[in-house]
Amino acid sequence: MTKQSIQRIYRAAQSALQTDGICTAMPINPAFETVIPAVPTHDRLLQTAIAAIPERPFADLKSALATGYQNLHWRVDDGGYYNNNANVGEGYKTGNMHALLVGQQNCPVVADDLLVGLFLLAPRTLYRDHKHPAPEIYLPLTGPHGWRFNMSDWQDHPAGHPIFNAPGEVHATRVYDTPFLALFAWTQDTQYPCEVVPADDWDLALG
Ligand SMILES: [Fe+2]
Repeated sequence: MTKQSIQRIYRAAQSALQTDGICTAMPINPAFETVIPAVPTHDRLLQTAIAAIPERPFADLKSALATGYQNLHWRVDDGGYYNNNANVGEGYKTGNMHALLVGQQNCPVVADDLLVGLFLLAPRTLYRDHKHPAPEIYLPLTGPHGWRFNMSDWQDHPAGHPIFNAPGEVHATRVYDTPFLALFAWTQDTQYPCEVVPADDWDLALG
């Protein structure tokens, strides 16, 4: 039952990412591993985020997550994706959680150099400007959220608007009142950490 539930989430995520060719990297007929379920924190926030996913075009994924999110292994990033002592900010540290669908440890599908998962950020969080060698794809399931690239002006994008970050491109995300929940993928060079890129306007980003 647990495995079926995870497979349903996997297939719905794969279908959402394949739409318009956003990302076709998820293995088609993978072997599914056993996952130790974990929701270490933010359970209610996750439920709020899932409730905020629009039915169109995400009805299948919304339904699969609503009934099965607790079967995934959710983790808080306490800087593990960054170099030591990176200045990610308290908002990010206390307001993030992710669950991998494809990765290396405690994931439904194991792959060497591919990460695909779900990423949660709490309302009123600034995910500070950063960069990484991995090419990155986001498919936000909620919205709108604010984005900026290479320190240019902030732009709001709704749920379903894919975001492509080229290797080394500096990007930041700001979350308003709706929690941020997105599918994300790192499609190569996943072993290299993120690097925070300092900006002098972080205090102003959330108004
Ligand atoms: Fe990124």
